[in-house]
Amino acid sequence: MALTSSTHTATLSFSDGTPSLELPLYQGTIGPDVIDIRALYARTGKFTYDPGFLSTASCNSSITYIDGDKGELLYRGYPIEQLATQCDFLEVCHLILYGELPNEKQRNTFVSAVTHHTMAHEQMQFFLRGFRRDAHPMAVMTGLVGALSAFYPDSMNLNDPAQRQISAIRLIAKMPTLVAMAYKYTIGQPYMYPRNDLSYAGNLMRMMFATPCEDYKFNAVLARALDRILILHADHEQNASTSTVRMCASSGTNPFAAIAAGVACLWGPAHGGANEAALNMLFEVQRQGGVAKIGEFIAQVKDKNSNVRLMGFGHRVYKNYDPRARLMRETCHEVLSELGLHEDPLFKLAMALEKIALEDEYFVSRKLYPNVDFYSGIVQKAIGIPVTLFTAIFALARTVGWIAQLNEMISDPEYKIGRPRQLFIGSQRRDVQPIGQR
Ligand code: CMC
Repeated sequence: MALTSSTHTATLSFSDGTPSLELPLYQGTIGPDVIDIRALYARTGKFTYDPGFLSTASCNSSITYIDGDKGELLYRGYPIEQLATQCDFLEVCHLILYGELPNEKQRNTFVSAVTHHTMAHEQMQFFLRGFRRDAHPMAVMTGLVGALSAFYPDSMNLNDPAQRQISAIRLIAKMPTLVAMAYKYTIGQPYMYPRNDLSYAGNLMRMMFATPCEDYKFNAVLARALDRILILHADHEQNASTSTVRMCASSGTNPFAAIAAGVACLWGPAHGGANEAALNMLFEVQRQGGVAKIGEFIAQVKDKNSNVRLMGFGHRVYKNYDPRARLMRETCHEVLSELGLHEDPLFKLAMALEKIALEDEYFVSRKLYPNVDFYSGIVQKAIGIPVTLFTAIFALARTVGWIAQLNEMISDPEYKIGRPRQLFIGSQRRDVQPIGQR
């Protein structure tokens, strides 16, 4: 996309005699301007240094906007609060993928396309059998998603928009089927095939929880809660897994391989694995004595040598509040009321932790607020989703964001393979000595 130049420029001056350099500034529609440093190395022989990308825009994008200070999240300009309360997940997928919310006809076409691609290739269940029954679902998902390229070789060409479109639909449609298969495999139950008359979230719940022995009873509150989890996790601009997908796809690899890379990255506890880690943390505090032991636990969190973090708290970008957390908190209360779980000791423990952390100077001064995953873990547990499956549900939801970001990158005429440089701090050139003299 053609970038809008600012009337201002940035001047970089050096104290080592290198001539100063004027760099263009570009303006986004909202958010910080960026300094275009692409000519820096050619003109000065120097790189910029920004491990962790604290001040670096790695691309331009028109999909998701986050204002971390305001606690604002927009998908294609629409506030997350409106999308979460007025749309369903597949409408949001349409928005993220194609840029606009669907009208009724577009919605029906999109829902029909997704619905008619939900079955996984029958051979995939035999591939799944190669895994140990106790394998972590995210290990299985990394394998299954990567393996889609072996099952659908007709939609692998990243440079063909038609093939990208069909792989996008296949991925969005099949992720719930694969997540449910990964779960059923671990508990030794038969796989439940998708059903075309159900909603996206409803279908996922049925594939996870039904058995062939009896009809599955739906709970609309729980299905809506799961749908909201999916909406809130659908995209989040250039986070670690999305950047991984972009980097992976920048080599021209196929969409399934790139999304599998995103799944692998998401697994980490600092990213998508936080919902699982948050629940495990609650279990651990519960095991140690529950609410009475919170003080000791918080002391450990504050101790720099303990390496203990309050999982589900803090965010690289949101420094006031995670707007997704507010919506998820609301859903959390709805689900617990629906299931009569407000007196559940684990939930009481979570609420006590939330209260302390919101008031404690350590967390307040570092702007560490509950993030979406603190509440999404509690909701998923209440729905009956096993803890080890939480991150797989997150991966399912984020798939649409990954695909949209990948499409955006490939369609940008300025796109190049991602190839960061480094500040080398290793040994100077040296010669290999004969083994006896080393
Ligand atoms: N518990 C205790 N202390 C924390 C925490 C936490 N969860 N998060 C940050 N800190 C402290 C950290 O020790 C540091 O303290 P000091 O200034 O005294 O050295 C300060 O806060 C800044 O932390 P940071 O690690 O430099 O911040 P970051 O922006 O690099 O990290 C984060 C962001 C999300 C990785 C981190 O807050 C964290 O590890 N949180 C727990 C994991 C989690 O819930 N992740 C899910 C994020 S939301 C889902 C998603 O989008 O993936």
